[in-house]
Amino acid sequence: MSEAFQPAPNPSIAQTQAPRIEGRGHVLVIGNEKGGSGKSTTALHIAVSLMRDGARVATLDLDARQGTLSRYIENRAAYARKKGVDLPMPLHAAVMISTLNDRREAEADERGRLAAALEPAVGAADFVIVDTPGSDTHLSRLAHTWADTLLTPLNDSFIDLDLLARVDPDTLKIVRPSIYAEAVWKQRQIRAVEGGRPVDWIVMRNRLSSLAARNKRDMGNVIEALAKRIGFRVAAGLSERVIYKELFLSGLTLLDLKRGGSGPSLTLSHVAARQEVRDLVASLNLPVAAPAPAGVPATETTMPALPPAG
Ligand SMILES: Nc1ncnc2c1ncn2[C@@H]1O[C@H](COP(=O)(O)OP(=O)(O)OP(=O)(O)O)[C@@H](O)[C@H]1O
Ligand SMILES: [Mg+2]
Repeated sequence: MSEAFQPAPNPSIAQTQAPRIEGRGHVLVIGNEKGGSGKSTTALHIAVSLMRDGARVATLDLDARQGTLSRYIENRAAYARKKGVDLPMPLHAAVMISTLNDRREAEADERGRLAAALEPAVGAADFVIVDTPGSDTHLSRLAHTWADTLLTPLNDSFIDLDLLARVDPDTLKIVRPSIYAEAVWKQRQIRAVEGGRPVDWIVMRNRLSSLAARNKRDMGNVIEALAKRIGFRVAAGLSERVIYKELFLSGLTLLDLKRGGSGPSLTLSHVAARQEVRDLVASLNLPVAAPAPAGVPATETTMPALPPAG
């Protein structure tokens, strides 16, 4: 931990709605260096929720080697074609890591690639949702400096929490913030130096157990304490549900399921799950989408077409 790391409460923590900057999409980065916390799943669910509310959405996959979000969106386009259904599609692009050997050249290359993908997206969409890898990469760090809102999904486990803070096993007191919290703090500093708006950092608990287990309660208490200490808001979380795993192959989200439709049927449990996604989106306090210009559809219904970013 660097000595410079002095986390302070986030001044933007108040539950106010973020103002929209005219003509510029709001950038929502989904980030957590811990793998498998639900970033890609959450990214598409939020994207579809916003599109179904009439917003224009672009998505960016910075984990292009694994490509979960890109595959999810490809599956969605294939499902829509095969079944002849109209599904809202985001403008989508993937950014590959640089293949250059020299580190400085590679970093400059990645900076250029990211800007080449993000600039048209923020110009064309109300919201740009950036999915990042579950590891510390230069591309991911850069993307964090673009975030107007940073959403960190966190599995409800002390193993996952370890990347945010060291916790005393006996007292459950926070010993100190750890690597991902420090990384976010550094990226906030860079953004401040570059004159950007302060980032609204939000942590959401994912895969919450339906049981009132001790782990769930302890995690809740530690996260609330940590929120005050290092400056983030805690958003409504998502429960553990097998439907999230099942939907990937069809590219559907809970927001697409219809009662009596031709696709997967909507059960009561899905209705509750869908409400959780809506509550999550509401608690992000995103700015209101700009009205789409007359004659221009708010969302695409065909496969996306942002230019490839290298
Ligand atoms: N609420 C949930 N309930 C059940 N399963 C979930 C939930 N959220 C995500 N999953 C499952 O957890 C796994 C990891 O999810 P996902 O790929 O979205 O995470 P990730 O953070 O993007 O992973 P990576 O760091 O590898 O990119 C997937 O199998 C996904 O279906
Ligand atoms: Mg992922």
